[in-house]
Amino acid sequence: MRVLVTGGAGYIGSHTLIELMAQGHAVCVLDNYKNATPAVLQRVRALSNGTMTDYAGDVRDGAMLDKVMTTFKPDAVVHFAGLKAVGESAEKPLDYYDVNVGGTLAVLQAMDRAGCRRIIFSSSATVYGEPVYLPYDEDHPTRPTSVYGQTKLAAEHILTGWTKANPDAAAVILRYFNPVGAHHSARIGEDPRDTPNNLMPFIAQVAIGKRDALTIFGDDYDTPDGTGLRDYIHVVDLARAHVAALDYAARTNGAGIFNIGTGQSYSVRDMVSAFSRACGRDIAVKVASRRAGDIAAMQADASRARHAMGWTATHTLEDMTASTWAWQSANPNGYQTETDTSKITP
Ligand code: NAD
Ligand code: UFG
Repeated sequence: MRVLVTGGAGYIGSHTLIELMAQGHAVCVLDNYKNATPAVLQRVRALSNGTMTDYAGDVRDGAMLDKVMTTFKPDAVVHFAGLKAVGESAEKPLDYYDVNVGGTLAVLQAMDRAGCRRIIFSSSATVYGEPVYLPYDEDHPTRPTSVYGQTKLAAEHILTGWTKANPDAAAVILRYFNPVGAHHSARIGEDPRDTPNNLMPFIAQVAIGKRDALTIFGDDYDTPDGTGLRDYIHVVDLARAHVAALDYAARTNGAGIFNIGTGQSYSVRDMVSAFSRACGRDIAVKVASRRAGDIAAMQADASRARHAMGWTATHTLEDMTASTWAWQSANPNGYQTETDTSKITP
């Protein structure tokens, strides 16, 4: 298929480009580089033999979308582009609605103009909110507690409405749990611009000596060791879920919602210990009070994705920590000092 990938230069998008090209899809990236650098695409190209074009532009720009649609003629869109910082979303709610909801609307409107009828959307487990039961299945009530989560849920509703109005259309909504890890080549990975908000990149920066200690946000939760439990998923497994979702979208109509997680959960202390084993160093920690808005535990029931799309996660916790460490230690400053565009053997 010909696949337009919005936000393709980002963390999850870049890994997905590699998996899509490995399966023979032709890809085109649209990214405004708000949270990425074009150097990512040089590395993706060096890791793949596939066909990739790219445009610098904003998903809210209808004229730019029309240009990309007319030139590239996608069969499907994988829509990653968005803002993702939960804390920031409370400070900048209008920006989050504008990009995450307005951007999704603009993409669907451009797809309508171009006659493109298939979309895969990046949603989040954060749409569920405080668990009524765990593991969450896709029928769990959705009561997001952050503006970020509310924008993802609003976009889900728009996508569902679009498929109801267009019986020949398909929207696959993927609710990601906690993506971590990096490509096995150690050439692409997560490269947060400022202080990492998320656990794994923060631990990696402590391990490399950029930060003194991890602050554990609360050790008084009702969990086995008192720290928060999450369902961490390797980013390559997550990338492959998009390939499976495209295959699924090609043979179905309507909206489908799928949890994308492993079904296993680990605590903050589990993650610290596993990372310490991967890098062979102690990770200094200090315990502080709970972070506002955090919940004690999250875990996916990912059986719907397995049954309907034939997708299941295969990477272990060790794969997640080892690949993060390989990426972090080979690229202590992320993509910042990128000069090397040489071909890498995948
Ligand atoms: P990321 O920030 O690395 O990637 C997003 C990409 O979109 C970036 O390359 C950014 O430059 C681009 N972008 C942002 N605004 C844009 C705009 N207006 N027009 C064009 N491009 C724009 O984030 P990621 O971790 O790769 O996440 C991808 C998607 O998955 C996001 O929609 C995010 O909300 C969702 N998601 C992420 C997580 C996570 O923990 N990483 C969890 C659940 C859902
Ligand atoms: N944590 C710490 N210290 C840190 C960072 C995190 O103790 O410096 C803890 C958190 O309290 C939580 C766990 O590590 O218990 C994971 O926190 P993350 O910030 O890595 O991830 P969240 O579960 O809070 O949220 C992430 C993304 C959301 C997404 C959600 C989906 O940030 O965008 O996963 O499950 F919606």
